[in-house]
Amino acid sequence: MSCRKSAPANSNTGLTACAQEVLIIAMPNITGAQVLITGGAGMIGSHIARLASQQGARVTVFDAMLPLYGGNLFNLQGLTENIEFIQGDIRDASLVQTAVQGKDVIFNLAGQVSYVDSNHDPLLDLDINCHGHLQVLEACRRFNPRARLLFASSRFVYGATVYNPVDENHPFNCLSIYGIHKLAGEKYYRFYYDAYGMETVSLRLANPYGPHQQMKHSKYGIVNWFIRLALEGKPLTIFGEGRQQRDYIFNQDLAEAFLELAVTPGTAGQVYNVGSGTGMAFGDMARMVAAAVPGTEVVQVEWPADRYFVETGDYISDISKITTATPWRPRTSLVEGIRRTVAFYRENREHYW
Ligand SMILES: NC(=O)c1ccc[n+]([C@@H]2O[C@H](COP(=O)([O-])OP(=O)(O)OC[C@H]3O[C@@H](n4cnc5c(N)ncnc54)[C@H](O)[C@@H]3O)[C@@H](O)[C@H]2O)c1
Repeated sequence: MSCRKSAPANSNTGLTACAQEVLIIAMPNITGAQVLITGGAGMIGSHIARLASQQGARVTVFDAMLPLYGGNLFNLQGLTENIEFIQGDIRDASLVQTAVQGKDVIFNLAGQVSYVDSNHDPLLDLDINCHGHLQVLEACRRFNPRARLLFASSRFVYGATVYNPVDENHPFNCLSIYGIHKLAGEKYYRFYYDAYGMETVSLRLANPYGPHQQMKHSKYGIVNWFIRLALEGKPLTIFGEGRQQRDYIFNQDLAEAFLELAVTPGTAGQVYNVGSGTGMAFGDMARMVAAAVPGTEVVQVEWPADRYFVETGDYISDISKITTATPWRPRTSLVEGIRRTVAFYRENREHYW
């Protein structure tokens, strides 16, 4: 694995000191690392797979391909000769134990992703988002305690926000089972750092969107869902007046944040917000999608009861912790990200719906 100029040696990740390197490398670099990505056929995981593979990492994707979520082999198109693919479930202890062995970095993206579904089927959410991740942690503790583990948490741990922008010290006012279990997941990852010295890092993701997201339903990822509706010539429906602020982050920028935290020393045991760091009114986002697909209409309706209950209020990430610790910066504006996402689905629609 190679590292940036300023990064000191790190025995746990296999990083070597790059004191002689004269060029500052803008992108995180994990050349030569053995990388495992659980949930790696999904939206964010597949972008990590692509970037890691481009940088010369040896990538294994581990994904259960559960039908409700975003696992899609097309997301790995062009990579299949360079990566190993294991169709497996993180709740399967023996498979996970085999998969983690020999890996330098393990990105844990596998998850039940819908906060709405988590409230309807809390035990499934518990099973995947808690039990499943404990299996990964236990497998690493027993068979590969030197691996660096990165966990995809969510802004939903904050629930109802009491101030903005939201920093990592904001109270946990979870409004969904999903948020509660993501918080438990973070606590598990932190416990294995405290108790066993394992290198674990959690990322609290804002509202991702972009190419590779599932487009089968609207249970998560509303920007992409609006893009699907627009491409089908259907109107975009806004709940209420659409004034609530959201922090939309392009998923390729998110993948870069995962890679950056994989190679940045001094970040183990920590939790980082990852978002664009700017707020965007929901209605304005809808209008941007409409502008990107000419002829799209935007209409307003009242809040449905099940959504109103889990509405968090405005959410804008304070990203000063990650931008202080690493060179990572969000690079893609919402207008540009929507443009690229529309172009991607215009070209690849048959693979997503
Ligand atoms: N999309 C969002 O809005 C969002 C926001 C914050 C955090 N996250 C988290 O980021 C991670 C990745 O999300 P995404 O947006 O790429 O979603 P995604 O649905 O595209 O990817 C999730 C992947 O996990 C796989 N998976 C689900 N259960 C599994 C299991 N038990 N074992 C193995 N694989 C399993 C799915 O098949 C899928 O490929 C998730 O953990 C999610 O909770 C997502």
